Amino acid sequence: MILITGATGTIGSEVTRLLAEAGVPARAMTRDPGKVAGPAVHGDFGDVRSLEAAVTEVSAALLLTPFGAEIAAHDRAFVDVAARAGVRKIVKISAIGAGESEDPEDVGGMHGAGERAVTGSGLEWTIVRPSMFATNALGWAETVKAGQPIPNMTGDGRQGIVDPRDIAAVAVAALTGSGHHGRIYEVTGPDLLSTPDQAGLIGRAIGRRVETVNVPIEQAAAQIPDPAYAKAAAKGWAFIAAEGNAVVTTAVQDVLGRPSRSFESWARDTKAAFGG
Ligand SMILES: NC(=O)c1ccc[n+]([C@@H]2O[C@H](COP(=O)([O-])OP(=O)(O)OC[C@H]3O[C@@H](n4cnc5c(N)ncnc54)[C@H](OP(=O)(O)O)[C@@H]3O)[C@@H](O)[C@H]2O)c1
Repeated sequence: MILITGATGTIGSEVTRLLAEAGVPARAMTRDPGKVAGPAVHGDFGDVRSLEAAVTEVSAALLLTPFGAEIAAHDRAFVDVAARAGVRKIVKISAIGAGESEDPEDVGGMHGAGERAVTGSGLEWTIVRPSMFATNALGWAETVKAGQPIPNMTGDGRQGIVDPRDIAAVAVAALTGSGHHGRIYEVTGPDLLSTPDQAGLIGRAIGRRVETVNVPIEQAAAQIPDPAYAKAAAKGWAFIAAEGNAVVTTAVQDVLGRPSRSFESWARDTKAAFGG
């Protein structure tokens, strides 16, 4: 039995779908099992007892802790419960750059501490470190539909934007296959793209020009109510603007034996959300 945490989110829902399609017994963990059509269990990373119930008779788990200051604490709590319950394998969704930062206020540092809980657990482990998800662009959908320019905090800084379906497929390979123990997969798309590049590809998909407008990082961060999130976002934007995440890898090809999906194809598949 595979346990999928974060099962109602972007990656977890696709992992759930892929496992069901492959006929692999799996259980979705969520704070609200009523939201899930298939087998599901109540679980909250802040409630150890619920985690103990969720891991019963589980052999492998997808560990997806939601973004926030509690990533490492949630990872530690889950790993501790899983190890005691006899779970054999954990596949953690982390973030690209997690190996390079010790700063607890940025995403890499938050995930880095969580990774150490997983890699030091004595269990089989795989770390999946995705680049920026293509689906983050859905946050621009209303702006694009209104014919407004997309706010750009990252200048011409490029990233290997990745289709979440590829992240989920790599995670499923690690959960169900062998040869992934002790591996760290930095999962990216095939192209280095800036925000204006993404706007151009969304525009091509919907058949009209989509512009961007530069917004100073401090100004954009000031609009985020949660101070911890605002700080992490500001650090992330500065890092990207300085080309810190201008990275493309072959992880999808290496693990799945096929090329990664492009942002262009994601935008075509998703054009209805942008009014196309
Ligand atoms: N977006 C990016 O560009 C990007 C890039 C690299 C890495 N990441 C990492 O990817 C992860 C986010 O993945 P995602 O976008 O697939 O997630 P998501 O769509 O934001 O979904 C979050 C999931 O977490 C669950 N959840 C929230 N609070 C919980 C709690 N207290 N206990 C148990 N479950 C809880 C939610 O389930 P319920 O509400 O049903 O309980 C939901 O399934 C984060 O760790 C983030 O740092 C994101």
